[in-house]
Parts: sequence; C-alpha cells; structure tokens
Amino acid sequence: MLSRLPRPHTLRARLTAGLVVLLAVSCAAVGVAAVVELNGFLTGRLDQQLRDAGARFPASLEHGGNLPSDHDGDEDGDTRRQVVGTFGARLVGDTVTDASVVGSSSGAGALPVPLGAADKRKLAAVPADGQGHSIDLSSLDDYRVMAARGRDGDILITGLPTEPVEATVHRLELVAGIVFGAALAVAGVAGALWVRWSLRPLSKVAATATQVSELPLSSGEVVLASRAPTGDPRSEVGRVAGAFNTMLGHVEDALTKRHASEERLRSFAADASHELRTPVASIRGHAELALLHPGPVPRKVERALERIESEAARMGDMVDDLLLLARLDAGRLLERLPVDLTHLVLDAVTDAQAAGPGHRWTLELSEEPVTVTGDTHRLHQALANLLANARLHTPVGSTVTISLETDGRTAALKVHDDGPGVAADVQPKVFERFTRADRRRTAGSGGGTGTGLGLSIVAAVAEAHGGSVTLESAPGSTTFAVRLPVGGG
Ligand SMILES: Nc1ncnc2c1ncn2[C@@H]1O[C@H](COP(=O)(O)OP(=O)(O)O)[C@@H](O)[C@H]1O
Ligand SMILES: [Mg+2]
Repeated sequence: MLSRLPRPHTLRARLTAGLVVLLAVSCAAVGVAAVVELNGFLTGRLDQQLRDAGARFPASLEHGGNLPSDHDGDEDGDTRRQVVGTFGARLVGDTVTDASVVGSSSGAGALPVPLGAADKRKLAAVPADGQGHSIDLSSLDDYRVMAARGRDGDILITGLPTEPVEATVHRLELVAGIVFGAALAVAGVAGALWVRWSLRPLSKVAATATQVSELPLSSGEVVLASRAPTGDPRSEVGRVAGAFNTMLGHVEDALTKRHASEERLRSFAADASHELRTPVASIRGHAELALLHPGPVPRKVERALERIESEAARMGDMVDDLLLLARLDAGRLLERLPVDLTHLVLDAVTDAQAAGPGHRWTLELSEEPVTVTGDTHRLHQALANLLANARLHTPVGSTVTISLETDGRTAALKVHDDGPGVAADVQPKVFERFTRADRRRTAGSGGGTGTGLGLSIVAAVAEAHGGSVTLESAPGSTTFAVRLPVGGG
C-alpha cells in the first residue's frame, strides 16, 4: 500500500516530507491527549456537580416538593435551586415511579419525562454507587447520572446533560485542527526552504562535478578551475565538498603530470628525429661518394654501397616523417592561408602520373574551385601519400580516381582505386603509426615511403585542419576520403 505512493526522489523532498510527517504525528498525539484529558476533566467536574447537588431533585419528586432542608428555608418548589436540564428519577425496587427534568424557565418547574421500556431498563441498571455513569435516554440527550439510595429504600437518580462538555471538547478539536493544520502548512514551506538552504552546498558540489565531467580530460593540458564551495568543514555537506575538492586537486595534478610527460615525449621525438637528419644525410652522401670512386670496385662492394645509399634515403624519409608527426602533434608549423584544393589536386596527380605511368589516373573535379584554409605543403604531402599508396599497393594497370567535391561546408577529397584493397584486420589501425599490411616488403617497392607512416601523416594533417580521414575498402574498391571544413580550419 505504502509502496504505491509516489516516493520523493530528491533528498530535499524526502527530508521535507519526513519533517512534515513527524510534525503531523506529534500534532495528532498532542491533539488526542488534549481531547482525552479535557473530556476526562470536564466529566469529572460534572460528576462533582452531581455529587454536590446530591439527590435533592429526585427526592423532591418523592416528597412532593417538601424536602428536608439542609440549610436554606426556602422550600417552595425545589426546581428553583437546580440547574436547568437537571434530570431526576425515582425507582422503587426496579420500577421507575417518577422521572422529571428541570424546565428552562424557572416558572416551568419540573417537567415529566416520558420513558420507554428500554429507558426504564437502563435507569434500573445504574448502580447506586455514588459514581457518575453515562447514559443515553431516547427522549433526552446524553446524560451523566448518579444513583443514591433514598431514605425509604428507594433509589434516587440525578442527572446532568453532557452536552456542554461535548460542545467544549468539539470546540477544542476544531481549534486544534485549525491550529495544527496551519502549523503543518507553515512547517512544510519553512522546512522545504530550510532544507533547501542547508543542502545548497551539495547542489553546488553536484554542479561543479557536472562541469568537470563535461571537460575534455582525455588529452592535452587540462585546467580544473572550478571548485565546490566548502562552507562549514564540520558539516557533512562541507566534508563532502572538501573531499571532492581534494580529489579534483589530485586529478588535476595527475593530468598535469601526464601532460608534462606527453610534452617530454613529443619534444624527445622531435629532437631525436631532428638530430638524426644530419648523420643520415651524411651516410647517404658518403655512400654516393664511394660509388663514384673511379676504378674497379668488386661487384659485392658496389651492391652493398647501393643498399647503404637506398636504405639511408629511406631512413631520411622516415626521419622527415617522424619530425613532421612530432611537430603536428605539438600543434605547430601549420600555416593558415587559403588553399586552392583544385589546383593542389591537379599538381599532385600530375606528379603521380609521372611516377606511375602504368596506372590509369582519372579526375572528377567540380566546376568551381574548392578552397580551404590551411597549410598548402602539408595538404600536398597528405594527398601525395594517398596517391603513392594507390600506386604502390595496387598492381600496374589499376585505375585510380581522384574526386573533389563540396557541399558548401565541407570539402571531400577522395582517392579511389580498384586494387586488392586493405586487409580487413589491418583496416582498424591503418591510420596508426608504423602500420603496414605486408611487413616483408620494405625497400624493394622503390620510391615509396614504405615506412608505415604515410597514412598517419594524412590523419594528423586532416585533424590539424579540423577535418578527418576515413577508409572504405574491399577487394576491387578502396576509397580514402579526406574531409576538411571549407573556409575554416
Ligand atoms: N590504396 C591502398 N590499397 C591497398 N592497401 C593500402 C592502400 N593504401 C594503404 N594500404 C595499406 O595500408 C598500409 C599503411 O599505409 P601507409 O601508412 O601509407 O604506409 P606505407 O605505405 O609506408 O606502407 C600499407 O602498408 C598498405 O598495406
Ligand atoms: Mg604509404
């Protein structure tokens, strides 16, 4: 039953509801106790009144108004000294002989009360013990009656209406109901405000946590500027906020350290490749020099020198690629100038045609030139890498289609070939560094980079321009698509 009630979800609503329920229970307990107590008190007073009145009124019925006087000589009609509504009855044995009630005007005197058989039985059942008893007669309201033994062995019953007691108790109930209702309403509103105010720091902790969770924490330099207001550190809420802030501090420290080590690694890669350029160029130069040596050189030595020269060339390319990647990683060395992609494609394809005359090169260009903002040399290099791949990883005679189109916001540069495609297991990591499908084939391919860095440079250049590169490949159809924002970057 209780579980069907809608449960408040927020801590605030729960605390407020709990407060109101507790207050309601206390109010109900106080109200019930007050009503019971007042009822008992007033009934006791009524009994006392009955005791004080003695059996004078019913005795007057017995003696026809001539009462034995206590202290007062005025004996003409006993009803005058009785409270209006006083009930009197006389029983002989179990039979009611008289029953009257004091009339409302003093002149009216005692009025006879018509009694039914049930009423008579009830009266006869009242014990003559000098105690008050509640009784309900059909012809009268509820009464409090007291029975006493008369002088002639008859029983005299005196009664007073309980109506005034009930009226007072009802009034108390009404007043208590109104006051408690108002108190509950005020407590509900004030309690809600109070709870809200007390939990305000908690909402701020939650807001700060949300703010932090929306920050990009996965890479780069991260500054966690926001901190939750701690308030009183002795309160639970203050402790939560304090602990949360400490945690944020630790996280920030860790992220700063991570960033520093990333930076160190990057500058190491950049420095290393930069430093390698000179010795590699020198090896290549010496090999060339040695090959130019006049006179007979054993064939074996000549072959070795040729290998040294070509491998040094390859190493030089690799070092250049590594240096470029390190610089792109550091976000450096990018121009922001308008680049006419159409022009760039025409240039690159001309070069590719010269390098791979055995392939069929086709172009699909849109009418108007497509322009992006960026670095011409890097973009040229990226496209050259894609074209080199289309040439080197497909058999002679394959068709390579280069298309360039734009929808006004993005320029899409696609290189498609009908070669064997990229192996399915290589595809997911094809843009990672040093990924090559066939590791056995190295220098033999001649002229290409062959280092496994070509596509990672394409990806890094696209990203540095705010764009992306994707691959769709199946045997007979491979498409690399570079998308760049038009005009931005
Ligand atoms: N057009 C293509 N067709 C088939 N395989 C390709 C193509 N382009 C790239 N690949 C595969 O992706 C790998 C990674 O390419 P890349 O990063 O340029 O390195 P590299 O060309 O130096 O091997 C290549 O080794 C090749 O296996
Ligand atoms: Mg390549």
